[in-house]
Amino acid sequence: MTANVTVVGLGPMGATMAETFLASKHPTTVWNRTASKADPLVAKGATKAATIADALAASELVVISQIDYQAMYDSLGPAVDALKGRVLVNLSSGSPEELRKASEWASEHGAVLVTGGIMAPPPGIGKPGSYVFYSGPESALDCHGETLKVLGDVTYVGDDPGLAMLYYQAQLFLFWSTLSSYMHSVALLETAGVSARDFLPFAARLVRELAEEGPMAFLHILTDEIEAGDFPGDLNSLKMQAVGAAHVVEASRDAGIDTAYPAALRDLFERAVAAGHGADGLGSVIEALRKP
Ligand SMILES: NC(=O)c1ccc[n+]([C@@H]2O[C@H](COP(=O)([O-])OP(=O)(O)OC[C@H]3O[C@@H](n4cnc5c(N)ncnc54)[C@H](OP(=O)(O)O)[C@@H]3O)[C@@H](O)[C@H]2O)c1
Repeated sequence: MTANVTVVGLGPMGATMAETFLASKHPTTVWNRTASKADPLVAKGATKAATIADALAASELVVISQIDYQAMYDSLGPAVDALKGRVLVNLSSGSPEELRKASEWASEHGAVLVTGGIMAPPPGIGKPGSYVFYSGPESALDCHGETLKVLGDVTYVGDDPGLAMLYYQAQLFLFWSTLSSYMHSVALLETAGVSARDFLPFAARLVRELAEEGPMAFLHILTDEIEAGDFPGDLNSLKMQAVGAAHVVEASRDAGIDTAYPAALRDLFERAVAAGHGADGLGSVIEALRKP
């Protein structure tokens, strides 16, 4: 017997989550502020709750996917009496501090809040490779982990309700900044007639090599250095790299494209050099990040 689940929020993510639960034979109740978004899911077997109180009454497990945490208060606030005994699993974006406060709010109303950050776009939900960071009371995941596994691998990171979001944001920052760097590089090369397609093999090679073993395995190299607190720069000093970063700004300006991103990087490197890390390696930049 598969467990009942309620999905609150039917944007691209919540709607796909509801479809995924339905495909796994979980009796699924849905609710959305704009009620008409539930209709295509009803056609696939979902039950449309007439009110948020009905949606909460339908399942102990309530998965929330909305734009932010304010949306949760706006949606659930009018039905706080129906929260008692519910396990709210909120996979919406927010700040860790906001999530900690939301956990207290849920407790005050007799509910348990599990916070999460889902590491998949809508087409990846429930597919191999998708995973979700969860934090909050582990006992709630002991009860509902089997159902939640339908969305992606359950990755529990700790009882601090803010922690799943911190992991999620750390991953998202890496994702956005890496891909924005890629787009800056393409924009720069395009000014000399090189297409994105021409550049792709080189970009893919660098991204791959950073995460693998070998002389370019800087994810591993920097991790070892950060753990040891030692940033040798004898072979490639930060001073040398700060000069190189300033040249990327110059190249971008000369090519007539935006300079904000490389300038921010150059300024960060120069700040670390000014703080005394010129002879150290790239890993010493973390010292400037820790002490703004
Ligand atoms: N899309 C992705 O690739 C992706 C990947 C990972 C995580 N996420 C996260 O997943 C969450 C949902 O994302 P999404 O792409 O599905 O769409 P979204 O545009 O972030 O959220 C849409 C949902 O939020 C609801 N909503 C917004 N304001 C509301 C309010 N004040 N009260 C009640 N409901 C409100 C919308 O209701 P209405 O339909 O009534 O407007 C809709 O159900 C976000 O927090 C996002 O950061 C997204």
